[in-house]
Amino acid sequence: MATQHPGTALVTGASSGIGAIYADRLARRGYDLILVARNRARLDELAARISDETGRSVEVVTADLGQDADVRRVADILKTDHSITTLVNNAGVGATAPALQSDIDAMEAMIGLNVTALTRLTYAALPGFVARGQGLIVNISSIGAIAPEVLNGVYGGTKAFVLALTQSLHKELAGTGVNVQAVLPGATATEFWNAAGTPIEHLPSGIVMKATDMVDAALAGLDQGELVTIPSLPDVADWEAYENARHALMPNLSRSLPAARYTNGDLT
Ligand SMILES: NC(=O)c1ccc[n+]([C@@H]2O[C@H](COP(=O)([O-])OP(=O)(O)OC[C@H]3O[C@@H](n4cnc5c(N)ncnc54)[C@H](OP(=O)(O)O)[C@@H]3O)[C@@H](O)[C@H]2O)c1
Repeated sequence: MATQHPGTALVTGASSGIGAIYADRLARRGYDLILVARNRARLDELAARISDETGRSVEVVTADLGQDADVRRVADILKTDHSITTLVNNAGVGATAPALQSDIDAMEAMIGLNVTALTRLTYAALPGFVARGQGLIVNISSIGAIAPEVLNGVYGGTKAFVLALTQSLHKELAGTGVNVQAVLPGATATEFWNAAGTPIEHLPSGIVMKATDMVDAALAGLDQGELVTIPSLPDVADWEAYENARHALMPNLSRSLPAARYTNGDLT
């Protein structure tokens, strides 16, 4: 029986690592692709291989998502190409140095790519997805989102933004037919670590996942309908307990009076 064509997936940061594997896996699931990154030669090579192996149409868009004009150009594609049903917000950079050893310009550039570009692309895709009653946004966050003490704090902050945005969108988009997923990889064997300042060989091998395993697990989580996927977490009940604890705070996060421990019991 013929299955319905799933449409086109636009994958940012598709020239290497996690994004390149998403591109491969999504093509094997029947998607046509638009691959976005700066390195044209790598994108072309990947596009040729994927279209040879899968027969899918693969378009390449060279863009520096740290540059506003390029982000807007990709946003326009998301707004106008109605074949796009899926956006994988994967392009991102990291850092491992602590604040006092970090360059503020590099931190600001990281926020620009990991947060600002991702937000503009998400906002570009959403109205069309909602109008057409279907769509998927996969946002690549990081375990740094919930463990900001582990790496550079600005990196963790950018990934916490990605997680929070995804959780908020999940609530806002209920009933629209549009799905979102946040993926929180732990250390994954890609070029990320060289650029971030700590070669992957410096990490204990027991905490490093193969990028193919990471993406396949994230897609399995997607298939299971997960909003948040932590590929390495053995027991999903641990994440559920964390989320339940967060939700239990909610009724008390905004009240007319300060808590008694801040008032010496004097609330007059
Ligand atoms: N590896 C890990 O341990 C790990 C863990 C948690 C989360 N993540 C997240 O996973 C995502 C992918 O990283 P990765 O591990 O696959 O690293 P990677 O192999 O270095 O891939 C990063 C991708 O982003 C693209 N990119 C970087 N700067 C860009 C820019 N200014 N404009 C457009 N594209 C840009 C790169 O392509 P060009 O250089 O060609 O532009 C490349 O395709 C990132 O968001 C990262 O934060 C990674």
